[in-house]
Amino acid sequence: MKSGTIAGIAVALLGMAGTAVAQDVITQRREGMRAEGRQMEAIKAVLDARGDTRPLVERVDTIAGFYRNLQALYPPGSDTGPTRALPVIWSDPAGFEAARTTIVTALGSLRVAAASGDLAATTTAFNQVGAACAACHRANRGPAR
Ligand code: HEC
Repeated sequence: MKSGTIAGIAVALLGMAGTAVAQDVITQRREGMRAEGRQMEAIKAVLDARGDTRPLVERVDTIAGFYRNLQALYPPGSDTGPTRALPVIWSDPAGFEAARTTIVTALGSLRVAAASGDLAATTTAFNQVGAACAACHRANRGPAR
């Protein structure tokens, strides 16, 4: 076998490995987003039922943990495949980072409000977190492709 052929095979294998890694990270971030969506629904159910907000701190921490580390789930090369992530995430990383920072800050306020036991303040802060989800989606999530 000529060395050129071997190099070609090595490049092809590397390409396949890269695709597999991208698919893993896409699956991971999509599952993570869905999990945080379920956390948000669980919080909303307690607020709607006018329940005790203090135990919600744990859920808020779980959500915040995900968005604190969000950048790791959007490495270069993970813009293709079964994803709705828009190319702007990589062409304008500052915009994506700003949206991420906004939600982490909003989750910080939600944590404080929930810990205080103040239902009205917790509801207001919760709606701001929801708005931060929606704002990032408007800018960075496209149609299924
Ligand atoms: C910093 C930007 C950003 C923020 C903030 C954000 N998302 Fe997302 N979300 C995305 C992107 C980008 C996708 C598309 C991911 C993909 O398809 O690879 C997505 C996808 C999703 C999905 C679909 C997952 C799937 O099955 O494909 C859900 C559900 C979701 N987000 C919920 C939420 C909720 C709930 C919040 C707020 C608590 C939130 N997101 C905050 C960027 C964000």
